[in-house]
Amino acid sequence: MKVLVIGGGGREHAVCKKLSESPLVTELLCAPGNAGIAQVARCVPDVKATDVPAIVALAKAEQVDFVCVTPDDPLALGCVDALEEAGIAAFGPNAQAAQMEASKIFSKNLMHKYGIPTAKSEVFTDADAALAYLATQQAPIVVKADGLALGKGVVVAQTIEEARQVVEEMMRGGKFGKSGARVLIEECMFGREVTVLCFCDGKTIVPMRASQDHKRVFDGDKGPNTGGMGAFAPSPLYTEEIAKRTEQEILLPTLRAMNAEGITFKGVLYVGLMLTAQGPKVVEYNARFGDPETQAVLPLLESDLMEIMMAVREQRLSGMDIRWKEQAAACIVLASGGYPGKYESGKVISGLEDAQAMGATVYHAGTKLVDGAYVTAGGRVLGVTALGNTLADAVHGAYAAAEKIHFEGAHMRRDIGSRDL
Ligand code: AMP
Ligand code: GLY
Repeated sequence: MKVLVIGGGGREHAVCKKLSESPLVTELLCAPGNAGIAQVARCVPDVKATDVPAIVALAKAEQVDFVCVTPDDPLALGCVDALEEAGIAAFGPNAQAAQMEASKIFSKNLMHKYGIPTAKSEVFTDADAALAYLATQQAPIVVKADGLALGKGVVVAQTIEEARQVVEEMMRGGKFGKSGARVLIEECMFGREVTVLCFCDGKTIVPMRASQDHKRVFDGDKGPNTGGMGAFAPSPLYTEEIAKRTEQEILLPTLRAMNAEGITFKGVLYVGLMLTAQGPKVVEYNARFGDPETQAVLPLLESDLMEIMMAVREQRLSGMDIRWKEQAAACIVLASGGYPGKYESGKVISGLEDAQAMGATVYHAGTKLVDGAYVTAGGRVLGVTALGNTLADAVHGAYAAAEKIHFEGAHMRRDIGSRDL
């Protein structure tokens, strides 16, 4: 099969690498891709992940058999709908199902309506009403923009004054444009966070190995939120008991709720959990693989990802035997100095081969090839993943390999996984 993957980050590198190992995949393309993805796929840098007509045109011109749409934007824009309408098989939720991520109000209403455990929240379309409501509440309190906001649309405000400022910025200042015109104000939950990525075909939901992300930029969960500075799997917090509760109280009810609303979700449902004193609760749903969680989860997958994606699209997931390695994986993100704020690009990267020689896989998130040398081209630059028989082995292996890589200003967290070792 000739397969096209949409996207160009570390997550897409992990998806492409896994697909390239499938005997079913004879040719692999990625749009736009990046310099690392180019090691396993033919990249088409001119086709942006948000340009749905260009993606459909590329899939037709190249006569691809199957497209995997990985990032949130094209999913919300109806990329899968457009491909399927053009007669091209595609993996990922349609635009209606992608609202599980694209509208926090949509998914919150669904959870409240069907009794799925989550933080209590109120929706506001009017800034005055939101501010009046805040005056009756206590901090900490969470303010969320409704729409997609590059992962920056959520603020856990430590004071009511801070929450007021966020409401002003989002609803009056137009900080996230249309995405912030409606906001959710919600109760703050307390607990550890676990990511459960699930294959879902609209009838069956199958959780992958649970993982943990590290969203803050500095050690000890300090500093601003980022796209994710590292991840590991499986999560030791996700015990058999928690897994059972999550399946019964969250995963199956979510599938039933979507079906009751006429939504057939085919793709990866990302369930962000908070393990609270009252049990697991949903922080958020995403309609896709997580980044960097995927760089820790997919290397543990023993089964053929292409077979699974086809089964999801054809709603044959219930008959699939999905196997996982009995190992742990850790991914350390190397970021540009200054990220998630302003940073410089074009820094020459050295040590990639040394890191690989240590048995690690180096996923490229933001790199470019210039005159035969890899240079930085993004905030998150690389994700270094190692496997081990224990979480400790995986973490040590990933750090040992990551230490070999250098570029000016490089920054990584030194404590990925350390809270759970
Ligand atoms: P998101 O951008 O939706 O992934 O949310 C970013 C982060 O905000 C989450 O990973 C949580 O750490 C935090 N968060 C979101 N909602 C809540 C909540 N209701 N209570 C506490 N923390 C939250
Ligand atoms: N790692 C968080 C996300 O993918 O949304």
